Amino acid sequence: MSKEASLKGFGGFGEASDIIDLNWENIGFGLVPTDYMYIMKSSEDGTFAKGELQRFGPIELNPASGVLNYGQGLFEGLKAYRKEDGSILLFRPEENALRMRMGAERMCMPAPTIEQFMDAVKLTVLANKRWVPPIGKGSLYIRPLLMGSGAVLGVAPAPEYTFLIFVSPVGNYFKEGLAPINLIVENDFHRATPGGTGGVKNIGNYASVLKAQKLAKEKGYSDVLYLDSVHKKYLEEVSSCNIFVVKDKIISTPATRGTILPGITRKSIIDVARGLGYQVEERLVSVEELVDANEVFCTGTAVVVSPVGSVTYLGNRSDEDNADINWDDLGFGLVPTDYMYVMKCSEADTFSFGE
Ligand code: COI
Repeated sequence: MSKEASLKGFGGFGEASDIIDLNWENIGFGLVPTDYMYIMKSSEDGTFAKGELQRFGPIELNPASGVLNYGQGLFEGLKAYRKEDGSILLFRPEENALRMRMGAERMCMPAPTIEQFMDAVKLTVLANKRWVPPIGKGSLYIRPLLMGSGAVLGVAPAPEYTFLIFVSPVGNYFKEGLAPINLIVENDFHRATPGGTGGVKNIGNYASVLKAQKLAKEKGYSDVLYLDSVHKKYLEEVSSCNIFVVKDKIISTPATRGTILPGITRKSIIDVARGLGYQVEERLVSVEELVDANEVFCTGTAVVVSPVGSVTYLGNRSDEDNADINWDDLGFGLVPTDYMYVMKCSEADTFSFGE
């Protein structure tokens, strides 16, 4: 489908440059229904053609569809930002197109070509242009889905696939905003296992974290950090993002060996840090390394770069030595602390015996 052809069918939306009137200060990461979504179905030979924009809303699915019955589905996440001149920027969309193709191969699904993916993303963003937040107030989150929409009964690849894109304006992913988040290391539940689908953006990877995430949130943690399922010792990722550990200016992150999502923000951070002269290691990172890390942070499209304030592992919280005060309301008034240092000048004008 050519871009021009689709634009003709929806004349006018491309000019909707006024920004929608929303409370942009408190947008968070919940779905805000927008104007249009994009849908493209595969034909019998497994190729995609004739995608189109439709009004955003419910879709019809066969109850026997592969995605509903056997979880044959992938998703992507990318963002569009508004620039000062009113134009809109997409962050590395070809990377998402490529990753969807890699995931589709693992999940036995045909996928749109990179060009089809890119055209569809641009078309959908353009159609929903008025939902792209003002500068500094967030971004338009773009959610491409690829699913087995054809009917199956026995376990088999679906006979038909649907590629769909919807969008929603978003702000901060974590309720903490830009403040550090508190993670708990999960010892019983695992996100992925070698040979499984942890390394692709399979929808089931995210359903499987819900239980651990629910328990963690009930205990007041922001999210869960998973360990590898074989040794129960090496860091994998957080429910929705990758993890980095910094020690003595060396930045380390778990290597992607099939159980960790190859995040696009992860890749960007590695490239930028190396470009700035930092040593970045992609390797097995043991959970013990968290204890004496200088810094820990998470990366992802949704979470962007989120600082980690504490990590709790086997009941030990990394910041538990911190005083118990209301850190959220800390202004610039004197807070009496534990110790001060004093050294007096002797008659001979020398300083000695400070304490
Ligand atoms: C993304 O960062 O796009 C993700 O996939 C996270 C999502 C699970 C909220």
